[in-house]
Amino acid sequence: MLKGRHLIEPGDFTIEELEEIFELADRIIANQSDYIDLCKGKLLASLFYEPSTRTRFSFESAMMRLGGRVIGFDNPDNSSVSKGESLSDTMRVISGYTDIIVIRHPKEGTARLAGRAVPDTPIINAGDGGHEHPTQTLTDLLTIRHELGGLGGHTIGVCGDLLFGRTIHSLVKTLNRYPNNKFVFISPKELKMPSYFLSMLPEGSYIETDSLDAVIGDVDLLYMSRVQRERFVNEEEYLRLKDVYVLDKKKMSHARKDMIVLHPLPRVNEIAVEVDEDPRALYFKQARYGMYVRMALISKLLGTA
Ligand code: NCD
Repeated sequence: MLKGRHLIEPGDFTIEELEEIFELADRIIANQSDYIDLCKGKLLASLFYEPSTRTRFSFESAMMRLGGRVIGFDNPDNSSVSKGESLSDTMRVISGYTDIIVIRHPKEGTARLAGRAVPDTPIINAGDGGHEHPTQTLTDLLTIRHELGGLGGHTIGVCGDLLFGRTIHSLVKTLNRYPNNKFVFISPKELKMPSYFLSMLPEGSYIETDSLDAVIGDVDLLYMSRVQRERFVNEEEYLRLKDVYVLDKKKMSHARKDMIVLHPLPRVNEIAVEVDEDPRALYFKQARYGMYVRMALISKLLGTA
């Protein structure tokens, strides 16, 4: 039963519960007009303490497409946070006004704290620092399920900022729960997967390399990511690392014909614009799946579907 639950990290839901969400998302994709009143009369709070385009707009459009409404802020300077109000006070007050709360915050663990402050209102973590981004994972999984025909048995290349990338942390942890997935982690040594993270993965389930060229022909899926500028302490280090990988037409010519390229977006330089026209480049389609999966998630947590 998903009604009333929080989603702080993908591990909060069982594989069966994730499947329930994907199945509803599939039904919504097939018959959108049947769902336009599903959340009528419900109110979603959208609290963004950190910049966002896709996540915020996809949540807001998801709620509106279900007939619900949205209030919130995308700049905490305009809220009482700027007067020094604590997060848990803000959450308690907002939970008195709304039915479900989406929160993005630069500090790891904030969504969990928010969930503790309001046990009776569903809280959705829309990204907490470099920690987790569960709804991006739902987006990625729905995309993979549609485009590769299932969530197990894949060789997944994950390229870029594996140290700070929260979308990557949530995605790898979750794909690791499905059978027979193998990972190829591609990063410069400064941005490797944290060792605590690697220790959670079964031995033999991954390899690490700093060469995209060496492995691009071996993967079924290439998940590209942006170097996370805002998490660097040292700007020079960022500038030195930001363009280490650029996926271009030449690199794509060495990839399999049925390989797919995903990216949570925003893209900076890591995928050349010339790749966009390649039928294997699915990142814009992926962003749209994000709205459908959030429609399914909101309805399940509100108990309207
Ligand atoms: C990601 C994020 O915010 O972590 N973006 C998103 O939600 N689609 C990825 C990123 O910012 O690099």
